[in-house]
Amino acid sequence: MISKKDGNLYIDGVKVTDITEKYGTPCYIMSEDTIRQNCRKYKAAADKYYDGRALPLYASKAFSCVDVYRTVASEGFGADVVSGGELYTALKAGFDPKKIYFHGNAKTEEEIKFALENGVGRIVADNTEELVTIDRIAKELNVTADISFRIKPGVEAHTHNFVKTGQIDSKFGFALENGEAFAAVKTASEKKNLNIAGFHCHIGSQIFDTEPFIHAAKIMVGFIAKVKKELSVNVGELNLGGGFGIKYVDGDNPKPYDEYMAEISDAVKSECASLGIDVPFILVEPGRSIVAEAGITAYRVMSVKTIENVRTYVAIDGGMTDNPRYALYGSKYAACIANKAELPCDFKATVAGRCCESGDLIGENMMIQAPQAGDVLVVFATGAYNYSMASNYNRVPRPPVIMITDGVPRVAVKRETYEDIIKNDMI
Ligand code: LLP
Repeated sequence: MISKKDGNLYIDGVKVTDITEKYGTPCYIMSEDTIRQNCRKYKAAADKYYDGRALPLYASKAFSCVDVYRTVASEGFGADVVSGGELYTALKAGFDPKKIYFHGNAKTEEEIKFALENGVGRIVADNTEELVTIDRIAKELNVTADISFRIKPGVEAHTHNFVKTGQIDSKFGFALENGEAFAAVKTASEKKNLNIAGFHCHIGSQIFDTEPFIHAAKIMVGFIAKVKKELSVNVGELNLGGGFGIKYVDGDNPKPYDEYMAEISDAVKSECASLGIDVPFILVEPGRSIVAEAGITAYRVMSVKTIENVRTYVAIDGGMTDNPRYALYGSKYAACIANKAELPCDFKATVAGRCCESGDLIGENMMIQAPQAGDVLVVFATGAYNYSMASNYNRVPRPPVIMITDGVPRVAVKRETYEDIIKNDMI
């Protein structure tokens, strides 16, 4: 929880500048308590609206590290992983493989083998070539692969083009409209080493309306009914994906997750009733809404450069290497000077990163307290898709992740060193 006292910014009762003095800048700071509270909201809603016949999976692409897998596992979550690297991290964290769902539109043979050898709960098949590969590898390993199908329900979500995924023009999954999904299910039903366990859809990310989720859920229930009738295949599980929006800036008004879940479950149940099928086991895959608001990033202000009648650049010791989201999507963030937290935000800044790249910005027209070199600038709601999308561009080491547990900060991920930077270079 973020608070202000005596002119300073606090997170979970810890003064942000105490953390930066001890661990340096830039650093990601995460509240374990907030992650747990978010998990509990989803878990309670899943239990309440589906009578316990539902499981939330943490979409770990939002923030993947051993510590966070352990936290969400202890809250009873499963995990969505999307690469061998995420799967490896989850397994290292001691995650129950049965609760791991393996996604991805271009899984390699090595990854599929790795997943099957470790007994992951589901492989979510994306394309016909992959169905053939999964079946072949399962046969070689003498196992049956429990699969789900990534399906494009043909729903347009109102969000940034790069994070929309449910429409027919998407690289992810099998399309419904043109019969591709139906044909894939038929193909899989004829394969000996595949067990059709479920269907999956994910319409996009940072979505505030419930309507596209409801629309997608109804379409997916309709598809379950169709394959039952026409192929006599009983699909017992429906994964409705993630994508619930969070508040980055004033004006972002996400619904409480409980309300999303209530509305979607009403739609699922009524559609099942009208089509005469049982309500399937339900999965949801929140990523951003579990971790985004749990995290902040703290930077050092390096310089304040005012260009008369143009703008003021506030340069920080991080940028697109730890948060590429403005450069990629023009995403908006709120910021604050941690050591001047109670002064008015009457200074308009373009917060610029340290890379040799004019587009390396954290944001433009950001209203903050008047800054000066040496101040600590905090960007809010950076817990999702920041650390997980960080890079070493310009050979900038990745910042550490400082996790606060019960009011005590600790290192969850170490700061990268120059040695780490060259560790794979042949010298
Ligand atoms: N399930 C699947 C299959 C997904 O592809 C995703 C996100 C999620 C769940 C979780 O969605 P969430 O609840 O986090 O919205 N890098 C972009 C977001 C990409 C999301 C990709 N898939 C960003 O920074 O906004």
